[in-house]
Amino acid sequence: MAALVVRPSGPLEGTVTVSGAKNSVLKLLAATVLAPGRYHLHNVPEIADVAWMGDLLVAMGMTTSRPAPGQLVVDSPAELLPEAPYELVEKMRASIVVLGPLLARFGRARVSLPGGDDFGSRPIDMHLDALRSLGASIELVHGFVEARAERLRGARLGLDFPSVGATENAMMAAVLAEGTTVIDNAAREPEIVDLAAFLNRMGAVVRGAGSSTIEIDGVHELHPVEHTLIPDRIEAATYLAAVGIAGGEITIAGARPDHMDLLVHKLGQMGMRISPCPEGLWAMAPRRLSAVDVSTLPYPGLATDYMPLLVAMLAVADGVAIVTENIFSGRFRYVDELVRMGADVRTDGHHAIVRGRQWLSGAPVRAHDIRAGAAVVLAGLRAQGETTVSEAHHIDRGYERFVEKLRGLGADVDRV
Ligand code: UD1
Repeated sequence: MAALVVRPSGPLEGTVTVSGAKNSVLKLLAATVLAPGRYHLHNVPEIADVAWMGDLLVAMGMTTSRPAPGQLVVDSPAELLPEAPYELVEKMRASIVVLGPLLARFGRARVSLPGGDDFGSRPIDMHLDALRSLGASIELVHGFVEARAERLRGARLGLDFPSVGATENAMMAAVLAEGTTVIDNAAREPEIVDLAAFLNRMGAVVRGAGSSTIEIDGVHELHPVEHTLIPDRIEAATYLAAVGIAGGEITIAGARPDHMDLLVHKLGQMGMRISPCPEGLWAMAPRRLSAVDVSTLPYPGLATDYMPLLVAMLAVADGVAIVTENIFSGRFRYVDELVRMGADVRTDGHHAIVRGRQWLSGAPVRAHDIRAGAAVVLAGLRAQGETTVSEAHHIDRGYERFVEKLRGLGADVDRV
């Protein structure tokens, strides 16, 4: 099994190019079940999650190919098997978003219920309530969601929480429904805006994406399209965190500063200098960072995916910070790995208190999930000695050429 070995390397410098957004491409791939034909996607990262989503499309009867780096072609035939098996949904929870589009196009769908994961319990009740409001009948049978509807009918949906996945499932169901759907308290993430752009290009009528109210006029059919993905803001944040921890000055080519306003502001409070530049984003950490309190919230708040990166930064910052995780209650489990590296972090429910240390101490640790894995690698940049991060396959789920990109900035990281 792959592991990453990290040693402190001094200040980082150079340019790193950010890949297309993982959390966007997975949903766009789900949207390709909505209409038959050939789709061309550009700026698609080569990561395990994209390969798994491809496996799911193939299991349903589609074909996928990679004609050139960054490109992905999907051929969606007229008939598909509208099913998502346990092995694939269990590996990657995001695949639950095929439920809405399968139901909308084929009038039936059978998708495995995802299990829990390292973030704790991750229910899908809001996804199912949204589809029920659009007229679907839904049963839970032998671990599967079985959904049926002759034709979905537009309706007014109010989400209890601006869930990204539930908003996406509802959008992809509503585009082929009869009449108009209004989603209140919709998620506002940039990936939702990208999905709406993709659907509109396919012939859908989606208004208001990026705001809390999304309106969708259902159409009878859609057509395949060509689309370039937005850049991955979480990946860009990872390289910001790297320079924050190791020091130095870097350029993150392809990053969209307008997708990262609050993070840039927070990191500024910690003492980083970050500004938009023609390539994307320029960042410098002139001195050891100062601790600030952070709290995750739905977009435009600080993303829950930034949190492990921020905790790693705070672990070596000057001062004490209170970190509050408001999205996933179980998302502090990886903190024990940082503690093994000498970090002073105490958790209590959805809060953590981080007392910054000048240096951490290299240790064998484990990647719990994509972002927590990246966070312990970055912590290793400021840990005396050697840090070995095992279970690096978690990092490969979401980061394209992570080791190469870090090495390109001068970091001392190897894959073994
Ligand atoms: C979430 C993040 C997203 C991140 C992704 C991967 C938020 C709002 N969403 O998206 O930014 O990229 O994880 O890490 O930060 N919930 C329910 N019932 C449901 C659906 C969700 O109770 O049917 C709850 C979840 O348990 C969670 C919250 O709502 O507490 C947000 O979940 P949701 O946005 O749906 O999660 P993801 O789509 O996985």
